[in-house]
Amino acid sequence: MRIDIITVLPELIASPFEASILKRAIDKGLVSVHTHNLRDYATNKYKQIDDYQYGGGAGMVMMVEPIDKCITKLKSERDYDEIIYMTPDGTPFKQSHANELSLKKNIIILCGHYKGVDQRVRDHFITREISIGDFVLSGGELAAVVVSDAIIRLLPGVLGNEESALTDSFQDDLLAPPIYTRPADYKGWKVPEVLLSGNFNKIEKWREDEALSRTQKLRPDLLDD
Ligand code: ADE
Repeated sequence: MRIDIITVLPELIASPFEASILKRAIDKGLVSVHTHNLRDYATNKYKQIDDYQYGGGAGMVMMVEPIDKCITKLKSERDYDEIIYMTPDGTPFKQSHANELSLKKNIIILCGHYKGVDQRVRDHFITREISIGDFVLSGGELAAVVVSDAIIRLLPGVLGNEESALTDSFQDDLLAPPIYTRPADYKGWKVPEVLLSGNFNKIEKWREDEALSRTQKLRPDLLDD
């Protein structure tokens, strides 16, 4: 898989891909992540990429031309399955979207800044708009990293067996059950007996019951749809 991230702040994006699971995925060649500085596609001598809003109002708007030039160049080099715009008014991001996007070959993620992008970018280039929650970040970069992380860890070979994504919270629309490791008794705080029983069926049943009761208690909305 290949992810191209278009941004005015590439330095905000670099370090998460230089550590841990994401770095390992890149080193193994399972994904490549490329950032593109929008300023390199500015058309005037001031390297301007934003301008005042028509009709007035506070906040600058990212101009259509530099974004067009950047996306058009990328599209001339390969086909893209999705061109995603990170924005607080996008579709709320869910595990099911991460699953879906992890099956794509090439995606572009455009990070919004200032007030956002000229609507014509959204109308003519963007295939999907994603929000990572009902709050406003200072730009789409951190959101793009969040979405990339959620996708990349699902790519075959990224996680070892012991880290399997299949048992994550949300994978079956339930929160994950409680987990424990040694010691079995710490200061009298005991690990549930069933987990020490060695009875795989009983353990599975206990985990399912716990996942369901946790979800009912903490996130009943997940059980609605
Ligand atoms: N850009 C600013 N806030 C955002 C959010 N909540 N989700 C996605 N992109 C954003």
